[in-house]
Amino acid sequence: MTATATDIESEIKRLKQETDTVILAHYYQEDEIQDIADFIGDSLDLARKAQSVTHSQILFAGVHFMAETAKILNPSKRVLVPDMDAGCSLAESCPPNLFATFKANHPDHIVVTYINCTAEIKAMSDIIVTSSNAVDIVNSIPREKPIIFAPDRYLGAWVMKQTNRPMVLWNGSCIVHETFSHKQLVKLKVRYPDARVIAHPECPESILNEADFVGSTKKLLNDVVVQPHQMFIVVTEPGIIHQMKKNAPDKTFIPALSEDETCSCNTCPFMKLNTMEKIQQALRTGKPEVILQEDIRQQAERALLAMLEHSR
Ligand code: 13P
Ligand code: SF4
Repeated sequence: MTATATDIESEIKRLKQETDTVILAHYYQEDEIQDIADFIGDSLDLARKAQSVTHSQILFAGVHFMAETAKILNPSKRVLVPDMDAGCSLAESCPPNLFATFKANHPDHIVVTYINCTAEIKAMSDIIVTSSNAVDIVNSIPREKPIIFAPDRYLGAWVMKQTNRPMVLWNGSCIVHETFSHKQLVKLKVRYPDARVIAHPECPESILNEADFVGSTKKLLNDVVVQPHQMFIVVTEPGIIHQMKKNAPDKTFIPALSEDETCSCNTCPFMKLNTMEKIQQALRTGKPEVILQEDIRQQAERALLAMLEHSR
């Protein structure tokens, strides 16, 4: 007999109690995963939450760098992921050996790194940023100090524009946000002239130029609640729309599209590797577990704590 969705959900709830586990989830997870999580958030809030967890185990329903961040910040906890292959194109775009050379080619530069990177890259950084605090953190660095920013060139370009500050950018990108089509977005704007366009800063500049508001997933969620608009064109991974509907049930949310409107290129293939069945299995077996080399963890923690200290 195959287990129903309700059976799986009840077993996850039972196993959570038995194994003293807290489930943290990102807004891009499937709706049912968001609904079973104890806490959902953007990268910054998830990092803060992970740091303060008192349970013995964290199950991280997100992508690998997020779970790794939880382990870096709260190393005495066992950190499980539903699928070890849930990576991120930004983290993959920045291999440690090439980044070490990049860094060596820019001596005296402050190394500001987006949280979407591996522990090894965090360990080579001076300070980590997320999309919600990158502008403030860059603004806090003395203007005479040169900066290298990795791995997202689009977020980097947006931060440069907001801060009016040059930075040397690593050439990485998010495969989801870079595929949103400018042509499709303009078509949606013509079709829904009263809609407010909200976008994640991982999108290319041509897309961000069309947006009324740019921010992290949490800031986009907040925007739909506080703005008086009835309709929003959402230019980020559509998983966030589940929380938007919950928080602003009377409003309408239109997901932005990629060039080929029949493909689901606007969903993150890594985030969507996680399923309720894999969460159930991870809680049953205590695997897969995130394990880190202690020297790298400590170095990466230093850069993450610099960020958290700044964003208290
Ligand atoms: P947020 O920190 O805005 O949630 O972004 C995470 C992410 O991976 C966006 O693609
Ligand atoms: Fe990485 Fe992009 Fe997926 Fe976010 S949406 S986890 S940046 S691949």
